[in-house]
Amino acid sequence: MSTIELKSTDKKLRGELRVPGDKSISHRAAIFSSLAEGTSHIQYFLTGEDCLRTVEAFRMMGVKIEQDGGALIVHGEGITRLNEPSSPINFGNSGTTARLMSGVLAGLPLFTTAFGDTSLSRRPMDRVVAPLQEMGADITGREGGSLLPLAFNGKKLSGYRHELKVKSAQVKSALLLAGMLAKGKTEVIEIGETRNHTEMLLPEFGVDLDIDGRAITIEGGQQPKASDIRVPGDISSAAFFIVAASITPNSQLTIRDVGLNKTRIGILYALEKMGAAIKTDVHTHVGREPVGDIHIQSSNLNGITLDGEIIPNVIDEIPIIALAATQAEGTTIIKDAEELRHKETDRIEAVVDTLNRLGANVEALKDGIIIHGKSHLEGGVINSYGDHRIGMMGAIASLVTSNHVTIHDKDCINISYPTFFEHLNDVLC
Ligand code: S3P
Repeated sequence: MSTIELKSTDKKLRGELRVPGDKSISHRAAIFSSLAEGTSHIQYFLTGEDCLRTVEAFRMMGVKIEQDGGALIVHGEGITRLNEPSSPINFGNSGTTARLMSGVLAGLPLFTTAFGDTSLSRRPMDRVVAPLQEMGADITGREGGSLLPLAFNGKKLSGYRHELKVKSAQVKSALLLAGMLAKGKTEVIEIGETRNHTEMLLPEFGVDLDIDGRAITIEGGQQPKASDIRVPGDISSAAFFIVAASITPNSQLTIRDVGLNKTRIGILYALEKMGAAIKTDVHTHVGREPVGDIHIQSSNLNGITLDGEIIPNVIDEIPIIALAATQAEGTTIIKDAEELRHKETDRIEAVVDTLNRLGANVEALKDGIIIHGKSHLEGGVINSYGDHRIGMMGAIASLVTSNHVTIHDKDCINISYPTFFEHLNDVLC
């Protein structure tokens, strides 16, 4: 098992940094360009393990995909030219690959099987399988199709009106992709706002969608066309450095070219409410996605309550917000976040256990976390739980602990941020 020992340090964060490409947008760019006709260039594609699972799935279906430095070059030949893979597809640890590809595989006239690692094999798939079955999908799997491995007897599906039961961009996107391949019209009605990268990016590939408040409609039978895409920096990766600079005294850091889509910047709102000194400027758009720089100065933080509508917008950032809350005066309450229990690990248990091991005072709720600040963090030995965001939270904690932090199973950080430790070293001085 890979282990790292991070010494306690008096260093601060200074200078500037570019975080890798957005994970959600990279997955979508790989899927849409593989289904497209023609050659697409995707600059700053995230080559973390999760996104490479999506790439590998399409290679197995015969799509020629090249990696050239930070760019992905996808030679799509169109939906009808995809081949049946000769062996099962491995989704690895990637929930986004599993959910979005289910929408695709259910609607292609191919037989495919797919599996995942131990963590992904525990995560719910019925949230996509059940609505796909309403469209006529023939999917079987463990526990009645609610867990991987799954088998897809793909075929032409029929358009359907879905009223979503979970706030999930993965489910929304799977159904929109299935709708794009289906016969007739598909409508997806959300119960709350979730990240909208699918809706922003599909039109870049020539696919029409109609968005009316929470309802998104897509006509079936559309063939995407190749497009050149630039992937903005991932705010979910930037989040670790935003918190690091906020809680480490005398820090001043700029993070360049980060995606600032309004469905993703809840972390900035939460930290500003805690008293963080953060400035952003949107200087460009790539496609329809706003991109800008984030400037952070260390500051004193205070506890807040985080609940309701904002939760899907910060769901991936809750571990690092919880670490920030250990350094804030007063109590922070995070509620309405039961979805955390269905991530790469049960992130409520993982965050509470990890922060308490380091010396914090944190409690689990059924649907959230209570953090009693401000705590002096001692340091200690933790395990990433095989969850990249728990591993990175532990590493950032080491900047404020009085003793070293040992992290077991740190290689999982490669899932979303292969250059994380290099970047951390680069900005510490
Ligand atoms: C993602 C959606 C979110 C998020 C995940 C990426 C996406 O999951 O947690 O990391 O790219 O659509 P849910 O849709 O399950 O909330």
